Amino acid sequence: MKGIVFNLLEQSVVADHGEDVWEELLDVSCLDGVYTSLGSYPDEDLFALVGAAASVLEVRSDDVVRWFGQRSLPLFAERYPQLFSRHVDARSFVLTLNEIIHPEVRKLYPGAIVPEFGFDTSDADWLGMDYYSPRKLCAFAEGLLIGAGEHYGQTVTIDQPQCMNRGDRECRMNIRFSRTR
Ligand code: HEM
Repeated sequence: MKGIVFNLLEQSVVADHGEDVWEELLDVSCLDGVYTSLGSYPDEDLFALVGAAASVLEVRSDDVVRWFGQRSLPLFAERYPQLFSRHVDARSFVLTLNEIIHPEVRKLYPGAIVPEFGFDTSDADWLGMDYYSPRKLCAFAEGLLIGAGEHYGQTVTIDQPQCMNRGDRECRMNIRFSRTR
């Protein structure tokens, strides 16, 4: 996982829970916390920090990952406004993930391993999204989708009839977007 992901996790934990909690997560995970944005670090480090956050904050690990995704989206929007400004809603933004957003991420962060999503656009009322990755980070995707909704003034509701974490071969997310402003 690229260092930027660890940098965003640190920024999110410090903003919502304080510097002391970040230091505690590093202690519990036996990590030094030195991550440069372009460096590559073991996925296990991220999973250790998530596990530590779950036990320190007394929440489920997938809730930590979902919260982190939701918290990361505005941080991405601050850093890369050009990826967001050409869209008026979250659905059209999300539909550029495979062709624009993640390819751009691969250029910006050489060595980044990003998933390719399968999209089902057959119904205008919802968007189907298939996700496969050995990292099984569907909760991160959910958080980013919720954050994308917030960015465009929409509420996002996600139903996951299939999930790798429940033994399915891939995750299926059925996403509904409704306007809040
Ligand atoms: C709703 C929009 C998005 C979704 C659903 C999404 C989903 C994901 C998921 C699930 C991963 C985990 C990698 C894996 O599963 O193997 C990931 C990784 C990543 N994404 Fe996205 N993403 C979104 C938008 C963005 C944006 C806007 C950026 C930055 C401009 C971004 C940058 C990254 C980076 C840096 C990684 C880590 C790659 C690595 O360390 O190897 N994503 N994304």
